[in-house]
Amino acid sequence: MMTKADVPLVKVDHLIKSFGGKRSLFSKSKSIHAVKDVSLSINRGETFGLIGESGSGKTTIGRMIMKLMDPTDGQILYDGKSISHFSKKEMKDYRSKVQIIFQDSGSAFNPRRPIGKQIAYPLIKNKKYSQDAAMKEVYHCLEMVGLRKDFANRYPHQLSGGQRQRAGIARALVLHPEFLVLDEPVSALDVSVKAQIVSLLENLQKEFNFTYLFIAHNLDLVAYFCDRVAVMYKGEIVEVNTAQQIFRHPQNKVTKKLLGSILTLDGSLNEIKSEAYEINSIN
Ligand SMILES: Nc1ncnc2c1ncn2[C@@H]1O[C@H](COP(=O)(O)OP(=O)(O)OP(=O)(O)O)[C@@H](O)[C@H]1O
Ligand SMILES: [Mg+2]
Repeated sequence: MMTKADVPLVKVDHLIKSFGGKRSLFSKSKSIHAVKDVSLSINRGETFGLIGESGSGKTTIGRMIMKLMDPTDGQILYDGKSISHFSKKEMKDYRSKVQIIFQDSGSAFNPRRPIGKQIAYPLIKNKKYSQDAAMKEVYHCLEMVGLRKDFANRYPHQLSGGQRQRAGIARALVLHPEFLVLDEPVSALDVSVKAQIVSLLENLQKEFNFTYLFIAHNLDLVAYFCDRVAVMYKGEIVEVNTAQQIFRHPQNKVTKKLLGSILTLDGSLNEIKSEAYEINSIN
C-alpha cells in the first residue's frame, strides 16, 4: 500500500507556459515559450534546487506552483492532488501551506505601515484572530527569524537588507506553511549576511520539516544547501541529479558551464560554506 511518505509533496507534470501570441486585427505578437515541458517531483522535507541562466523559466515554474499564474498545459499535484481542481476550501488551505520568498521579500512590505501589522494581516483577515492573538504570533515569528519584538513597530526603511529579508521570512512563516519557494532568497545580500540567512533557512527546515524549492542562477550555495538539483536551459530541464553528482560528475554541457562559473568565484563558495558552518555551530 502507498503511504503518505511515498507520494511526492509536489509533482510537476509536463508543465508548459507560453506568454503572448495573441492575435489582434493588425498583428500577431510572437509568443514566448517560457516553460516547455517540465516534469519534476519534490519529496517531503527535501531541498530541491532549480538552477539555470537568466530567463530559463525558473521563476515562472515557482509562480505556477504557488498558483500565482496558471499553466498553459500540464499539471501540478500537491500531496497527490491536482491544484487546478482544488475546491474553494482546499485552495484557501493551499494558500497557507505554500509560501514564496523573493530576492528582497522585504521590498514587498508597504513602506507606510509597521511591519508587525503587515505580518499580522492574514491572521486577522483570513483566520479571524484578535489583534492581541495575532501580535503574539507575530512576535513569535520575529523571534524565530532572529528579530527582537520591537521590530514589529518598525517601518520597512528602518531595517537593513538582511533584517528586511528576515522580516519577509517571518511573514512567510505566520500561516504555518509546509512548502516554501525560495526564489534567489540571498542573491541581493552580502556574503556574510547570505551565510546567516542560509543558516536560518536550514535551522527552520530542521525545526519544521519544511520542503524547499530553492531557485538560483548559478551553483553558488546549491551544493551545500540542496539535496537534489535540476538544471534548466531555455524552458527545459536538461539534467536532474543529487547535488553531489551534479558537482562531481556534471553530465550536460549547460551544467558544466554553470559549474565553470562557480570555480571562478575564487573561493567565495567556501567562504560562504565555512561561515554558515560557523554560525550553525554557535547556535
Ligand atoms: N508575465 C510575463 N509576460 C511575458 N513574458 C514573461 C512573463 N514572465 C516571464 N516572462 C518571460 O519568460 C521567460 C522566463 O522568465 P523567468 O522569470 O521564469 O526566468 P528566470 O529563470 O526566473 O530568470 P532570472 O534568473 O533572471 O530570474 C523570460 O523570457 C521572460 O521574459
Ligand atoms: Mg527568476
